[in-house]
Amino acid sequence: MIRSILQIGDPALRERSVEIDPAAIAGAATQALIDDLIETMRAHDGAGIAAPQVGVLERVCIVEVRTDQERYRGHPEIPLTVLINPTVEMLGDETFENFEGCLSVPGRRGKVRRAAGIRSHALDRAGRPFEREYWGVRSGVFQHELDHLDGILFVDRADPDSIWPLDVFEERFRPGYAKHIAAIGARYR
Ligand code: NI
Repeated sequence: MIRSILQIGDPALRERSVEIDPAAIAGAATQALIDDLIETMRAHDGAGIAAPQVGVLERVCIVEVRTDQERYRGHPEIPLTVLINPTVEMLGDETFENFEGCLSVPGRRGKVRRAAGIRSHALDRAGRPFEREYWGVRSGVFQHELDHLDGILFVDRADPDSIWPLDVFEERFRPGYAKHIAAIGARYR
């Protein structure tokens, strides 16, 4: 079921979400929430979504970038990943400029400085723990989604002069965007 997405200004987006009891992961409510998040993310052509964006204040988020998505042209692929109760640790102190959008901040793009590398520990939808490292643009996608679980939106972290309307982003940055992403990809792989 596609759920409606809360928009910036809704106080629920600013709450800290709570950990999911691992014993509840197999339950129908959590499994339906995960299915709905995936369906809602795909319906809106997002690269990720977090439960608070559909008004559920629980620590679960999804990421996925498919190479057939026009909106993420040039972006490295990310297989569908469900993260429950994720934690994140920065790897090193290198940062990079990530261009971000958000289903809860429609029509805008912003430039956000993100850690180049992270390691995340989480539970998958079967309740199994897993650990993964992400670098570059992929790392940016994860940090954006993890922020949602703490009530943080990308506009909080963006360079204040860089929260462009989509058409400005398209005109000013789209031409160099693929190159920017390729350079980050070449550096971090
Ligand atoms: Ni978002």
